[in-house]
Amino acid sequence: MRGNKRESEFFTSLAPMKAVTTRHFTDTLCDCGEPDEYISEFLRVHPTAIATNDIIDLIENRKSVADLNIQLLGKEFEHFLRIAKELQCYKIKSINLNCGCPMPKISRKGVGGTLLTELNIMDDIISTLSNKIDIPISVKARIGYKDPKEFDIILDHVMKHRLSAVYVHARIVKGMYDEPANFEYVKISKAALHCHVIANGDVTRAQEAVNTIEETNTDGVMIGRAVISNPWIFRQINELANKAKVFIPAGEDYLGFIEKLQNVSEEFGLTDFQKPRR
Ligand SMILES: Cc1cc2nc3c(=O)[nH]c(=O)nc-3n(C[C@H](O)[C@H](O)[C@H](O)COP(=O)(O)O)c2cc1C
Repeated sequence: MRGNKRESEFFTSLAPMKAVTTRHFTDTLCDCGEPDEYISEFLRVHPTAIATNDIIDLIENRKSVADLNIQLLGKEFEHFLRIAKELQCYKIKSINLNCGCPMPKISRKGVGGTLLTELNIMDDIISTLSNKIDIPISVKARIGYKDPKEFDIILDHVMKHRLSAVYVHARIVKGMYDEPANFEYVKISKAALHCHVIANGDVTRAQEAVNTIEETNTDGVMIGRAVISNPWIFRQINELANKAKVFIPAGEDYLGFIEKLQNVSEEFGLTDFQKPRR
């Protein structure tokens, strides 16, 4: 049974993290306490791209009961359409458009965060998918490319579309991860948009997640890196929401998590862990 998790009062989303939030990670995370939904790591859209076996396996065989959004990264609307048509056969919550990836090798190709400098391309992709595909469309975006002053124009473009959710990673693309996330932009997005708005960036503790939702008046919070050091964070957020005792992991819980992750990884054939570079 998938996509049947009861949504909690404080809605939570696991941020997509390429090569981290793979199926073996999310399957292991299930035992610690799940978010309300996941967004898959991005699938690169290009002329010969297809919905890969990994993506189909994630959709069909994952252990999680949380909803799953599939993230696509690219720039040619016709190739988005082709892959989205393949995905239409499966039960997914939305197709999510990546408008935030800052990695130079991605930016150079004019995709990810660079789409924020080519808003007409972003518009074409969203319009094409909205008009021709039955699956809801969501967007994950940063608040600007070089300068947060670009935010107003980005918001104007986003507002034109019928989206199921907008995930706001509250920093600019060029800033990578340097500046702290600025949730004022999340508040503005929530006031302007009619879809779900989810706050993302630098949320590291359960109480902070609850405070962020309350202070920004958003529909939920998306958490990425903090899940790696505290895979129980979603459970803790639910406990706070229910005014229950909050679980505090002990050393043995961490060891147990790492052991499970390793066992699941081996089941998936990932036996060659990369050795750190010297
Ligand atoms: C290793 C790594 C991989 C990432 N991969 C993706 C990705 O595939 N798609 C995406 O939209 N964002 C990706 N991100 C960005 C995260 O989804 C998230 O927006 C960012 O880490 C800020 O949230 P956090 O402070 O809770 O980690 C990645 C981040 C990291 C650290």
